[in-house]
Amino acid sequence: MISFTPFEETHDACLPREINLGQLLSAISLAFDFAERAQLNHARRVAYVSLSLGELLGLGEGTLRRVLLAALLHDIGATESFNELKDEELVPTGVVYQHPLRGAEMVAGLPQVSDLGPIIVQHHERWGGGGYPFGLSGEAIRLEARLLHLADRFELVYAAAGWEQGLARVERGRGGDFQPELVDAFFSLARIPKVQLDLEERNIGRVIGWEVDRLAQVVVTAELCRVAGVFAGLIDNRSPYTANHSQGVAQHAGVLGRRLGLESVASLQVAALLHDLGKIGVPSRILNKPGRLTPEEYQVVRVHPYYTEHILRQVKGLEDIVPWAAQHHEHLDGTGYHTAAKAGAIPLESRIVAVSDVYQALTSDRPYRPGLAVDDALGVMRQMAAAAHLDPEVVQQLAVVSS
Ligand SMILES: [Fe+2]
Ligand SMILES: [Fe+2]
Ligand SMILES: [Fe+2]
Ligand SMILES: [Fe+2]
Repeated sequence: MISFTPFEETHDACLPREINLGQLLSAISLAFDFAERAQLNHARRVAYVSLSLGELLGLGEGTLRRVLLAALLHDIGATESFNELKDEELVPTGVVYQHPLRGAEMVAGLPQVSDLGPIIVQHHERWGGGGYPFGLSGEAIRLEARLLHLADRFELVYAAAGWEQGLARVERGRGGDFQPELVDAFFSLARIPKVQLDLEERNIGRVIGWEVDRLAQVVVTAELCRVAGVFAGLIDNRSPYTANHSQGVAQHAGVLGRRLGLESVASLQVAALLHDLGKIGVPSRILNKPGRLTPEEYQVVRVHPYYTEHILRQVKGLEDIVPWAAQHHEHLDGTGYHTAAKAGAIPLESRIVAVSDVYQALTSDRPYRPGLAVDDALGVMRQMAAAAHLDPEVVQQLAVVSS
């Protein structure tokens, strides 16, 4: 069972702010596809096909919006390799069997899009029965989920073997996997010349960007901290070792931000909640590895702030917090990542998130060591400050508030 830590009372009140949740979800779905290089754009192509089918069938705008967003997030509960999901002969077990359930739980806490969960949970149900997790059949499966399932099966074959094989896969599923009327609609769609072009790697990102702008203007006001808290949980829950990490970083950052006289402590805390968002692109097997990472695995982990930046930059309304969140592994001497910025180019807010991040990590248990006592953690951090990695003033303030 996944549990999300509710937004802690120690956080400042949410600032009223407008953000486009559709853009955020779309950006997250792409970052999630980074976790499996072979699956790049899987979610976007599934979204495109299911949305186009929905339009062909004359579905209303509210339904189309649900189809688009649910498709973008449909596999978000699959935190591991997608290889097993591709194997249609395999009887799904374990993490594969769980992924529709996990995905539905993950989106349940998001404001205004909680109606996506019932769709996501059914995206592997088959029209003729025998799907998972419930073994539903026929119209007991929601229409949106029926569209998703067809688009999903098509996309996996299309991505691996091309257009013609993809079409053959859909035809093969007529009546068993897919409702016959939807198969007919799919072949009407497939006759439209632009559909093949839109699906191409170089085009699909833009096309889905337009659809998100058109249909998914889910503008959330005054709930930014709540939304950020849900996303923080989504990241933290990928590993038992990082449970509550982002929440903890946000709490420390709030205390330090107030102490250092920042005006926008609430925004700083949102940045802290979202700082590791790019980890959605790091496979769980690496995040949860009990032991030292290989150099290659470490390289994969190191890209996460880069993707934090890429995700957040796609969302209008979050511009100010992007560097605060994304620069949390920079060092004052320029030896950090991902921009190798030096002291003058690293805002105080980023330095606070960096200090809070290290402190939270050091004082928590990890696969390879138990959490450090406060004094020991501060000792390590003073050394990091002396080496011009962390900001000495921020570390000093941390020592004051934590002793
Ligand atoms: Fe799936
Ligand atoms: Fe999928
Ligand atoms: Fe990080
Ligand atoms: Fe972190």
